Amino acid sequence: MNLPDLREATRLQHVENQLWPGVRLHVVTGKGGTGKTTVAGALALALAAGGHRVLLVEVEGRQGLAQLFDVPPLPYAETRIAVTAGGGEVVAQAIDPEQAVLEYLQMFYNIKRGGTALRKIGAIDFATTIAPGLRDVLLTGKTGEQVRRRVKGSHVWDAVVMDAPPTGRITRFLNVNEEVGSLARIGPIKNQADSVMRVMRSTETAVHLVTLLEEMPVQETIDGLAELQAVGLPVGSVFVNMQTTEELSDEALGSSDPVPQELIRAGLIAAGITHSKAALVQALGQEAKDHATRVQLERRERARLEALEIPLVNLPLLAGMDLGGLFELAETITEQVQK
Ligand SMILES: Nc1ncnc2c1ncn2[C@@H]1O[C@H](COP(=O)(O)OP(=O)(O)OP(=O)(O)O)[C@@H](O)[C@H]1O
Ligand SMILES: [Mg+2]
Repeated sequence: MNLPDLREATRLQHVENQLWPGVRLHVVTGKGGTGKTTVAGALALALAAGGHRVLLVEVEGRQGLAQLFDVPPLPYAETRIAVTAGGGEVVAQAIDPEQAVLEYLQMFYNIKRGGTALRKIGAIDFATTIAPGLRDVLLTGKTGEQVRRRVKGSHVWDAVVMDAPPTGRITRFLNVNEEVGSLARIGPIKNQADSVMRVMRSTETAVHLVTLLEEMPVQETIDGLAELQAVGLPVGSVFVNMQTTEELSDEALGSSDPVPQELIRAGLIAAGITHSKAALVQALGQEAKDHATRVQLERRERARLEALEIPLVNLPLLAGMDLGGLFELAETITEQVQK
């Protein structure tokens, strides 16, 4: 192999994505509070490892990503928030509908000053608050544009990860351009809507659902999945977040008293605590019972998720969340998805 060939091979290796091959837009949804923002951040880190450029977008104006990565509030402009092994980087952007409106007006009609005038009369407020559908068109449009963006023929981003609206709203949110596309018959808006839908429906997109092993989030995952599939949006994986580490044998789990008091006392003595109070022994026994109940509930809910036949990515409940924890979750994702 001569030198130019080698260079080309190295470049390709860089561009090739080992996790979810071919996917360039990862949409992370789930029930509120299940860890969408955390999983989106960890996923972005996992995708960036090994030298990839990943854009992490936020669309709800909540500054969740800035909090997660412990950086100042994100501007509309792209901001690098993390670097990974192998020269990879995560760049974040808070996509704001008002900024996106101004960008569109400028792009399609070349009326930047008109944009300022529009803002003065409150037209943008009208458009973005009174017509939530339009707001979603702008947010998904901007995201789609980032996915397609190229410089000198190459994609600017190896992957785009979206910290998306919750499961209850995700299908309408992603499918909004379908409605626009059928309303506007010709012109720039029609073209834009159609190209966004082309990205959303293609194998380049994966919609991931985050859940906990609890009844309500699992039910929401099952319902959300059916909704996404009904309109032909591509589902990726289910991220099962904040899982309890099982500490007891199957036999102990099945017992009404999983860790009897004699055992707890013996354990305490072995640990050098010889004069333990009855209240302590009792509290530890109760903790074991609670743990057994929790594990059994998680196993039941896991069985419901396994029946869906969608790949599951298991993430542990960490003792606390900081940047170190986020990298730990990223590694866990990589280990499981690369298999
Ligand atoms: N694996 C984990 N281990 C420990 N704590 C976690 C884990 N995942 C998320 N958390 C914590 O759970 C809380 C909720 O997470 P996060 O903000 O990511 O959820 P969300 O789904 O984005 O919430 P919202 O619906 O409000 O946007 C946060 O305090 C976060 O630090
Ligand atoms: Mg969030």
